Amino acid sequence: MIEFRNVHKSFGGRPVLQGIDLEAKAGEVLFIIGTSGVGKSVTIKHLIGLLRVDAGEIWFDDKRIDKLSEREMYPIRKRIGMVFQHSTLFDSLTLAENVALPLRKHKRMRQRDALAEARTRLATVGLGDYSDRFPAELGDGMRKRAAIARTLTLDPDVALFDEPTTGLDPVSARRIDALIRELSDRRGMTSIVVSHDITSIFSIADRIAFIYSGRVHAFGTPDDIRSSADPVVEQFITGRPEGPMETPGF
Ligand SMILES: Nc1ncnc2c1ncn2[C@@H]1O[C@H](COP(=O)(O)OP(=O)(O)O)[C@@H](O)[C@H]1O
Ligand SMILES: [Mg+2]
Repeated sequence: MIEFRNVHKSFGGRPVLQGIDLEAKAGEVLFIIGTSGVGKSVTIKHLIGLLRVDAGEIWFDDKRIDKLSEREMYPIRKRIGMVFQHSTLFDSLTLAENVALPLRKHKRMRQRDALAEARTRLATVGLGDYSDRFPAELGDGMRKRAAIARTLTLDPDVALFDEPTTGLDPVSARRIDALIRELSDRRGMTSIVVSHDITSIFSIADRIAFIYSGRVHAFGTPDDIRSSADPVVEQFITGRPEGPMETPGF
C-alpha cells in the first residue's frame, strides 16, 4: 500500500536518508524505530509532501506520489493523516471546535453539524465528557488523544504518528497504544508509528523497520527484531549505552 524505494534525502549536503526501502501493507501497524536524529520524522514527512526526495520513489496504492505537485498532493493528504509529535491544537478553541475544523474546511460542514460530529469523534477516543474544555485544561495524554481524534475526523486510510507516547505517563501511553491498535483492527486503518518506546513497539507493532545509518537496517515482526543477533539492533532494544563491539569482554 505504501512503499519507499531507495529514497535519499540530504540537508545542506549532509545525507540523512541514504536509500530507504520500506513497505507498509494495508491495515497493518508498522513501526519505524531508531535512535534520535536518525531520520524517522524525515522519512514520514515525505509521505504528506512536507519534504521532497532527492532521489528514489514513494508509492501510495498504485500511484507514484514523490513527484506530485502541491495541487496533485491535495487528495493524497486527505487520505493520509498525520499526528505531529507536538500537539498542534489551537489553545483558543475547545476540543470540539478543534476537531470540527477539518470537517468545516474539507467537508464544508456547517458549524453545528461539525461540532456534533466532533463530539462523537471525541467520544471514540474517550473524551466525550471533555468536548467543551480547552486544551490547556487537560493533561498531555488527553491532548494527544484529541489531536488523534482531529486527524481521524476525515477517516484517512493511513495515519502517521510521530512519537505518540513520548513524554506521556505510562497509563496515558498505553491508552494511546490501545487506540492505535484498535483503529487498525476495527477500521482497517494503516498506521505508521515513529517511536522509541520499547513497550509500544513490542505490544502493538505488526512489523518494525529499524533505521540505522540512513537505511532500513532491520525489518520484521516484533519476534524477528527481538531475537535479532545484530549488535546494533540488540543495543537499541536493550538500551545499553555502548554496543558489544566497543566493550569487548562484557
Ligand atoms: N528541515 C530540515 N532541515 C535541515 N535539517 C533537517 C530538517 N529536518 C530534519 N533535519 C535533520 O535531519 C536529521 C534527522 O532528523 P529527524 O528525522 O527529525 O530525526 P528523528 O529520527 O529523531 O525523527 C537530524 O539531524 C535533523 O537535524
Ligand atoms: Mg523525530
